[in-house]
Amino acid sequence: TAHSIAVIAGDGIGKEVVPAAIECLERIAELHSLDLEFTYFDWGSDYYLRHGRMMPVDGLEQLARHDAIFLGAVGSPEVPDTESLWGLLIPIRREFQQYINLRPVKTLDGVRSPLASKEPIDILIVRENNEGEYSEVGGRAYRGQPHETAVQETIFTRQGVSRAAHFAAALASSRRGLLTSATKSNGIIHTMPFWDEVVEVTVRLYPDVTLVSELVDALAAHLVLKPWTLDVIVASNLLGDILSDLGSSVTGSIGLAPSANLNPDGDFPSLFEPVHGSAPDIAGKGLANPVGQIWSGAMMLQHLGHPEAAEHLQLAFESALREGLGTRDVGGPSSTAEFTAAVLAAIDVY
Ligand code: NAI
Ligand code: MG
Repeated sequence: TAHSIAVIAGDGIGKEVVPAAIECLERIAELHSLDLEFTYFDWGSDYYLRHGRMMPVDGLEQLARHDAIFLGAVGSPEVPDTESLWGLLIPIRREFQQYINLRPVKTLDGVRSPLASKEPIDILIVRENNEGEYSEVGGRAYRGQPHETAVQETIFTRQGVSRAAHFAAALASSRRGLLTSATKSNGIIHTMPFWDEVVEVTVRLYPDVTLVSELVDALAAHLVLKPWTLDVIVASNLLGDILSDLGSSVTGSIGLAPSANLNPDGDFPSLFEPVHGSAPDIAGKGLANPVGQIWSGAMMLQHLGHPEAAEHLQLAFESALREGLGTRDVGGPSSTAEFTAAVLAAIDVY
């Protein structure tokens, strides 16, 4: 069966790592006789500078016709981040009810970084992706005056928290059975105790899963000091975002980390993107690490029902890294193009 995939390279290094990953996906598709049809959309900050918006008015309708969305990153120094994020990524996540943001944090051989942990790490971070701290409720008053005030509300719903907790608990049950919930109920006294309560009653339905609730400040330290003792982490939208950037750095580089924005019910397309942003500081220089994007491609193949093709792609980029052919951020000698060529060669070997 054919899969139609909407591709949005977006801004900055998105324009470098997306073509790299597409090359790998096309080679894998050829070898596994998969019919992947890529449709390219030039949406993002350049589009914004021409049209005053990040995507066309009917952008979501166009995307809805595809089986999956493959995104690089959006964000540019010339466009306010609130426009780039709320004009494209967040509407996609919400309209398509991608309420799970799944972010694997795993050590890979061949990554040399002062940050990288010596013990093997294998963590899945489940970030609630549709509500929480990322809300439009709030406002500002008394602009420019000494008593100027800003208010931002966090929204947790029983349905929203419990479906994230269900997803995380089911994952933990299929792995080492340990679920850590990120909280801050000592300081945030309304929403976080509610989060704790809903997570607790939900996880009770999984007798083989041990739930540990950890204050997020302590959990951040835990992620740095003993990350190998963690299995699955469930966290709210903001806390999950922060913990996953931290987690990926502990494995060596944010350039390695993939993510899947999932609509587990299958009513809408899911979106696959690296955890990193558009990295304007290194854009256009051939320095970007394409692993996060390629790995996101493997997660997309898995989601589309092709576990063997996903595994093949995974083995290939892991072997290119193991041979020491990584990009500069992981201590290797390669440019984006050289590393991609190494992955393509490894695909042919496996
Ligand atoms: P960033 O992730 O783009 O960069 C942070 C640091 O990591 C930079 O020093 C960068 O050079 C490095 N880095 C990131 N990806 C890398 C890769 N693949 N290989 C090697 N090094 C890499 O985060 P930053 O600088 O906070 O944000 C830049 C822009 O990206 C902003 O406009 C932000 O809003 C946007 N952004 C977009 C996201 C998305 O589209 N999902 C996610 C995060 C940020
Ligand atoms: Mg982030």
